Amino acid sequence: MKIFVTQKIPAAGLEKLSAAGHEVIVSEADGALPKAELVAKLRQLDPDAVLCLLTDTIDDEVLAAAPRARIFANYAVGFDNIDLEAAKRRNIVVTNTPDVLTEAVAEHAAALILALGRRVVEADRFMREHRYTGWDPLLLLGMEFKGKTLGVAGTGRIGKRTAEIMHHGFGMNVAYFDRQPNQAFEAELTATFMPDIGSLLATADVISIHLPLTDDTRHLIDTAALASMKPTALLINTARGPIVDEAALAAALQAGTIAGAALDVFEHEPEADPALLPLQNVILTPHIASATHEARDRMSIMAADNILAVLAGSAPLSPVAVVQ
Ligand code: DGY
Repeated sequence: MKIFVTQKIPAAGLEKLSAAGHEVIVSEADGALPKAELVAKLRQLDPDAVLCLLTDTIDDEVLAAAPRARIFANYAVGFDNIDLEAAKRRNIVVTNTPDVLTEAVAEHAAALILALGRRVVEADRFMREHRYTGWDPLLLLGMEFKGKTLGVAGTGRIGKRTAEIMHHGFGMNVAYFDRQPNQAFEAELTATFMPDIGSLLATADVISIHLPLTDDTRHLIDTAALASMKPTALLINTARGPIVDEAALAAALQAGTIAGAALDVFEHEPEADPALLPLQNVILTPHIASATHEARDRMSIMAADNILAVLAGSAPLSPVAVVQ
């Protein structure tokens, strides 16, 4: 059967698809296809399955352009780029790649927390600009993490693993906000449940966002939310950009409402709000939290396994939308 892959990904999964006898066609474009080109490509190829990326907007029009497709396998754990209702209406299975990138994303969140708190990127710039003139007791002072409170917004796999690294590795206390209390999380991490995001923001020294993007979480971190944080607090976002109102964040960082932020995801990718760029107290990374060789290979294999299962008439491994 014919499988269209919307952008180049690590070969591991693609080799599995080919080895199973399928025809695998990978987009040759450099980056994501603009929607009109994606629609045209799907119409031209009429694939049985599509392996798509978080940078593809898979709406009803795109789904309609692949009338034979039985599955859209998203190469990501997040799936806010896909219209699940439209997929269900069209009897198309949608899958994601959970678990396999948990460690990578949590390690990146931890890296951002450490780099921001200890001003690593700023210090690197300082050295390269030949500004170091000698050891100075007051130079580039940062946050010590032991005994401080990590506020985890979202206690799914990645939020939990980030909390484990920072609690067990660095002695941080953990507070959290989620739709409901998570007893296993509390027991493992001696964590305190906060009934609303405002209480978490007011309590934490470091906030790490691990929520999905939904209508409820869009701009969850806005001007008012930022104002409720401690002026010494740090904000980390490795989830989805639009959860944070980036213009409000830039204003809060400029005004000293909070001390710093580290973002791996942006409201309007691939751009970051230009007001963030000149700020010293912000670290920006280009949506690379899952970018380890191991995670990206496993994501490729998992997306392929989902396709293989559905094309063989079996249940997908990790469905987010299933056909009735
Ligand atoms: C995902 O899989 O949703 C991540 O954002 C990729 O890094």
